[in-house]
Amino acid sequence: MMTMDIDHLLAEDHGRLRADLVRIRQNLSRPGVRDLIRAFISDYEMHESIEEEFLLPVVREYLGSRRNPGLVQSYEEEHERIWGLLEQMMDALNFTRYRELQKTFFDIAASSEAHFAYEERVLFRVIREVIEPEVLAKIGERAEARMARFALH
Ligand SMILES: [Fe+2]
Ligand SMILES: [Fe+2]
Repeated sequence: MMTMDIDHLLAEDHGRLRADLVRIRQNLSRPGVRDLIRAFISDYEMHESIEEEFLLPVVREYLGSRRNPGLVQSYEEEHERIWGLLEQMMDALNFTRYRELQKTFFDIAASSEAHFAYEERVLFRVIREVIEPEVLAKIGERAEARMARFALH
């Protein structure tokens, strides 16, 4: 099996999430949008979980203590914020509050676009500068196996 470095794997997954967002936007006033949103939430939760389980530990290890603790902290805070937004969206979905659902969608679409761009343009670049390619490949392989297991559910 072709394996990908962790940053490439995550960047590719951003593409899938961006496609989810486009599809939701196109169907926002249709009843079927709830299923699309539910699928997006679960895709995004998987993505952020994978980042926190596989990427964050090495980011902390390589950048945390002295190199760039500010970057690590703001990254963790941003993830916290995204978990909060996903929860809000799930609540709006469960209680069928359409107006709130739409509003949350626009919040989440804007924040996630900014978040993906930050990871791709800043974090992943820094990571490639300080972490050996073999390490990135090994983590990528483990993360890919985890994603495949998620996909079975
Ligand atoms: Fe993230
Ligand atoms: Fe990401």
